Amino acid sequence: MEIVLSGIRSTGNLHLGNYYGAVRNFVKMQHDYNCFFFIADLHSLTTHPKPDNWMTSVKQILCEYLAAGIDPLVATVYIQSDVPEISELYLILNMLAYKGELERTTTFKDKARQQPDNINAGLLTYPVLMAADIIIHRANKVPVGKDQEQHLEMARNFAGRFNNLYGVEYFPLPDAFNFGNNLIKIPGLDGTGKMGKSEDNGIYLSDDAKTVEKKVMRAVTDSGPTQKNQKMPDPIKNLFAIMEVVSTPDTISYFLEKYNNCEIRYGDLKKQLAQDINQVINPIRQKIQDYSSNQEYLRKVVKIGRDKARESASKTLHEVREIIGFKEF
Ligand code: TRP
Repeated sequence: MEIVLSGIRSTGNLHLGNYYGAVRNFVKMQHDYNCFFFIADLHSLTTHPKPDNWMTSVKQILCEYLAAGIDPLVATVYIQSDVPEISELYLILNMLAYKGELERTTTFKDKARQQPDNINAGLLTYPVLMAADIIIHRANKVPVGKDQEQHLEMARNFAGRFNNLYGVEYFPLPDAFNFGNNLIKIPGLDGTGKMGKSEDNGIYLSDDAKTVEKKVMRAVTDSGPTQKNQKMPDPIKNLFAIMEVVSTPDTISYFLEKYNNCEIRYGDLKKQLAQDINQVINPIRQKIQDYSSNQEYLRKVVKIGRDKARESASKTLHEVREIIGFKEF
């Protein structure tokens, strides 16, 4: 079976965009591939989180993975910092990563702009750690969003350089996993770009029904169409785009028709949208809470994942050490 791997940083709750864009696809893939899904807590250290918050943020993603339907007995679900082999491979790959290319990485430039007082080496070498995450299990398929494509290209470069330097064909070159037509982008509620973790424009899987309603009712709209079949402005297009994934075709065509006839009342549309979003997240939210209060079960899940991930990672690292020439005395 082909090896699929993906991870999510433990910085905040998952939103609808993460769900439709990533996690729901993880769930679908788990039976057809040998899947590794992890919580990227080492990556989150670039912003120096407080030690007391570690458990909460890691546990949140873990419960959300499980609540969305990832089966820890089928896929390998683990915490990145539980697998020290990743960090050793990261060190080795750092010798193959050049300062210039790291500095040219779009995400690095963005972050450096956002946090000018904390442009640390971990931020610079973020793509190297990500490459280590992937190739430690010799994964070749990586389901990620468009924003991660450059990182993936770098992972291919680092893996390829390792192979070339040592004259081996050891690491497969990982590719972005393309879901074909299923690549869904969920826009935010603020009328601009996509739903983001830090933009405060999203609906979280853990939001309660009232919060969802409030957020949707507050979503940016305009004063309504004045001409029949008028082109939709972005904020309205965004609301319809969310409807596209949560509502029934009947609902969508009902409101489309209203829009095209200039009879639409955005209040009605939002009420329906909030209801349909809640329909999707109610059961997930409930499961997040159930898992959250079951520490005993979570402990088991983490242990099973750690054991499976380390088994695979230590095998790779052992072989990497041999290739490099580390020998036993
Ligand atoms: N960089 C990814 C993100 O911000 C998270 C991530 C870290 C990741 N390591 C990974 C994704 C390895 C896929 C594979 O979304």
